[in-house]
Amino acid sequence: MAGEFGNPEVVEEEVDILMIGGGMACCGAAYEIMRWSDGTDLKIKLVDKAAMDRSGAVAQGLSAINTYIGDQDPADYARMVSNDLMGITRDDLTYDLGRHVDDSVHLFEEWGLPIWKLDEKGERHDGSKGLTPLKDGGTPVRSGKWQIMINGESYKWIVAEAAKKALGVENIQERVFIVKLVNDKNDPHRIAGAVGFSTREDKVYVYKFKACLLAAGGCVNLFRPRSVGEGQGRAWYPVWNAGSTYAMAAEAGAELTLMENRFVPARFKDGYGPVGAWFLLFKAKAINAIGEVYMDRNKAMLDDYPPYGQAAVPASCLRNHLMLHEMKEGRGPIYMDTVTALAALRETLSPREVKHLEAEAWEDFLDMCIGQCGVWAGENIEPEKKNSELMPTEPYLLGSHSGCCGIWVSGPEDLGAPTEETEAGVPDHLPSGWNWGYRSMSTVQGLFTAGDGVGASGHKFSSGSHAEGRLCAKSMVKYCLDNKDLKPELDTSVDDLVAEIYQPVKTFLEHKDYTTAIDINPHYITPKMLQFRLQKIMDEYVAGIATYYNTNGHMLDVAEEKLTMLKEDAAKMRAKDLHELLRAWENYHRILTAEAHMKHIQFREESRYPGFYYRTDYNFVDEENWKCFVNSIYDKETKTYTCFKRAHKDLVDKTKLFK
Ligand code: FAD
Ligand code: ADX
Repeated sequence: MAGEFGNPEVVEEEVDILMIGGGMACCGAAYEIMRWSDGTDLKIKLVDKAAMDRSGAVAQGLSAINTYIGDQDPADYARMVSNDLMGITRDDLTYDLGRHVDDSVHLFEEWGLPIWKLDEKGERHDGSKGLTPLKDGGTPVRSGKWQIMINGESYKWIVAEAAKKALGVENIQERVFIVKLVNDKNDPHRIAGAVGFSTREDKVYVYKFKACLLAAGGCVNLFRPRSVGEGQGRAWYPVWNAGSTYAMAAEAGAELTLMENRFVPARFKDGYGPVGAWFLLFKAKAINAIGEVYMDRNKAMLDDYPPYGQAAVPASCLRNHLMLHEMKEGRGPIYMDTVTALAALRETLSPREVKHLEAEAWEDFLDMCIGQCGVWAGENIEPEKKNSELMPTEPYLLGSHSGCCGIWVSGPEDLGAPTEETEAGVPDHLPSGWNWGYRSMSTVQGLFTAGDGVGASGHKFSSGSHAEGRLCAKSMVKYCLDNKDLKPELDTSVDDLVAEIYQPVKTFLEHKDYTTAIDINPHYITPKMLQFRLQKIMDEYVAGIATYYNTNGHMLDVAEEKLTMLKEDAAKMRAKDLHELLRAWENYHRILTAEAHMKHIQFREESRYPGFYYRTDYNFVDEENWKCFVNSIYDKETKTYTCFKRAHKDLVDKTKLFK
């Protein structure tokens, strides 16, 4: 009977616009889209694999909004982003983001998010104390040049509530995991639908649409994590974002960019607690085991990377590079010197402010990373008395935090200049330049992305991802109105799509009685075991923690062979329940994402991000040959990626950055 395990009910639905994901970007889009679609008869829907109130990277809450421009110049923001990502970003996208992001922050405050403020005497207060809102000229407490402090445990609730209210809960479906996008039967470069399944009921959903916002976050757990065994499941990046954005876009034929880029955050060891407030607000220093500030001790190492090493704030990867040097030289562990920082603050602040800041030392974690409080409590750490260890994590792939991998998108219409498109491999549907009509549309017609999905423009963070979702909303509505007569037709039959999605269940039901131990069976592999295999390959050959983030061409060749076999074996994953079906497809998305990462690192014959990864056979930054984008396209027939170069152009003068 339909609706039983192994025989799902099939629900088909046609809308104009589907939003995939319920994180910051989709919440922004959901809020904004109603303003532009008002008066049209566009049907709009949002699906999230989880529950929007606590889904995505902001689930646990945050204690800072990391992008707020205020009275600064968006061009300076574009400069900062470029420098932190070693010179290769899209200034059109970052500048555009910079000029729009503050409006989202003002909305958050209007919706009830408490934002810290300075009073007229310059003293700090929690945002709930009735001080002037930002949009009316209130002064935020800046932790850093671009970051402002909030009381943000309920940040995601607040943002999701506004999105739900705008879009209407009847247009939102939670706990539906989208597995793949479907191209149009009449045009392979156009998107026509998506297919997914309920994580609670035996139902497969097949959607048809004109346009789609794919904003399902970045990718975690493609590398073997530091936390294994009893700590398994703990990572810095939220464990539920499994590369769906990159994998589904790639399979639909969208061009990806900078997939070689990764983020290796240096965070509080074992709890993965945030460091931003400590470095920026508390002005703490990171030290080696003998108390030396390694950023000072190893300063000369920055000269190996001109011009980026000479910037006033060295790039995140270079900061890691100096830290890793200490660890490799045997001067670990590395510590955040919380003791000295808090003592110094006591000398300059009022007693009330000191009390507030000491509470904030805990609240910073309670707001966004409760596990770190557990580590502090469990290890008898009082930050004013005992320093805490720092550690670089396993690599993650993302496009909105301090990383910039993602999808190659059309930029704003009023910025940027066309570039020469002469390289082989540029698809014939791609007009030249960085803009082809609709902000944030990928090279596949009708497929849009935002937040972690947009490549070459990192440092958007929560506020920027929300703002970028809003930009998408506007262009998706325009796209639909411009293409009123478009009738999407799926290039694959519904029966075939359903069979493909439920294959892991079928595999299980067919073979489960062959052995007496449910997890051991020659006919299938459990999603968990397959994930271990993926993580081992990535860790050992693609510059994971096992090799101190080192790899070379030979290791990458081995990785390629092993990943190809793993992808074949992925077809044998079993699902004994809906939870495992979710795990199976998450892993498939991880494999495609991991493969893109490996292929891009293999193609880029330099080490552009020292501290994030090193190609030991090209252990330098090569400005002459590699100051360019590495882009790729996946061919779903041959199941292979093809990488190619795209010219980079600075639209904002970067010389201002360097001393
Ligand atoms: P997310 O917000 O992660 O949303 C992704 C959504 O996609 C989720 O709803 C998820 O459930 C859904 N999804 C995933 N796969 C599927 C699928 N296959 N089908 C359907 N739905 C799917 N920013 C700040 O401003 N300040 C901070 O202090 C800060 N701290 C951070 C700390 C951490 C650990 C991380 C990871 C990020 C932090 N950020 C911070 C950045 C911010 O959280 C992100 O920039 C932002 O959440 C990205 O938005 P997004 O919509 O692209 O992804
Ligand atoms: S979180 O993502 O894990 O929550 P966190 O709170 O540490 O992030 O802060 C990240 C922000 O702080 C980013 O804007 C990052 O660029 C900035 N940041 C962190 N460390 C430093 C540093 N040493 N120097 C300058 N900026 C930093």
